[in-house]
Amino acid sequence: MSLSNLRKVIFPAAGLGTRFLPATKATPKEMLTIVDKPLIQYGVEESLASGMDEIIIITGRGKRTIEDHFDVSVELERSLRDSGKDALYHKVSYVSRMADVAYVRQKHPRGLGHAVACAAPWIHHEPFGVVLADELILSSVPVMQQLRMVYEKTGCSVVALSEVSPEEVHQYGIVAYEQEGDLMRLTDMLEKPKKEDAPSNMAIIGRYIFTPRIMALLQQVQPGSGGEIQLTDAIAELAKSEGVYGVVVDGQRFDAGNPLGFLKANAAIGQQHPEYGDAFKDFLNEL
Ligand code: UTP
Repeated sequence: MSLSNLRKVIFPAAGLGTRFLPATKATPKEMLTIVDKPLIQYGVEESLASGMDEIIIITGRGKRTIEDHFDVSVELERSLRDSGKDALYHKVSYVSRMADVAYVRQKHPRGLGHAVACAAPWIHHEPFGVVLADELILSSVPVMQQLRMVYEKTGCSVVALSEVSPEEVHQYGIVAYEQEGDLMRLTDMLEKPKKEDAPSNMAIIGRYIFTPRIMALLQQVQPGSGGEIQLTDAIAELAKSEGVYGVVVDGQRFDAGNPLGFLKANAAIGQQHPEYGDAFKDFLNEL
């Protein structure tokens, strides 16, 4: 397995997005916009900036707009060009040309682990990334690149970590780890533990690089609560066999999969926007 052969990224996007209802009744959560771009585009741009340009999106019912977003829109592009709206034309055409995108259907939302396993026939024997697009992370070094550096050093799978408060551990996969020089080697992990059962306050936060072995382990994982196949269970098995490392990400993280985190992401990115940022800051000061 070549370490440099890391080009594929899976974007699971077949969840129901219940925390965002009714907005997500007919619109995928991944298509909700932060200022002027849908969430999933931020994740794809982060992957491209980390050298991963083969995108596999796991979709489900009602997710057609994701495919349309990354597809060429001949009429729109022609109309923008003919009316001399060059800047808008370039923004639109860039999205359809930015990456190779393939779509895999998850017929039933049977959990994140199951969504990742749906892409197995496209992974072959290559390492790959996984990005949960509703975790938006602003950083000077793209987060997938931060993970990639540890993957290239160790040849092992790597997950992104962030410290959370004891009150939040029940919302995340929480890891146990031991320090190995400047690296964190994971020894165990628990999905959504109670505060008193959590082995640490380090949470797995939606960015991963895996060796292909995870696909075989996902086939063996038994469904957990709600009949869902948990990705965390397969990572725990991988940690026992090949080894898995954690990287505490350097960046500002927003859980944009819930309305409060989404509002915060819009406020933070809105203030940095080259065109609207200053006016938006003035508006916030007036509020
Ligand atoms: P979440 O639990 O955050 O997303 O899953 P959700 O289920 O869409 O949202 P809520 O909890 O009901 O509000 C994490 C990621 O895994 C994907 C989701 O689309 C999201 O990107 N996912 C989850 C799948 O693709 N398939 C599943 O069966 C479950």
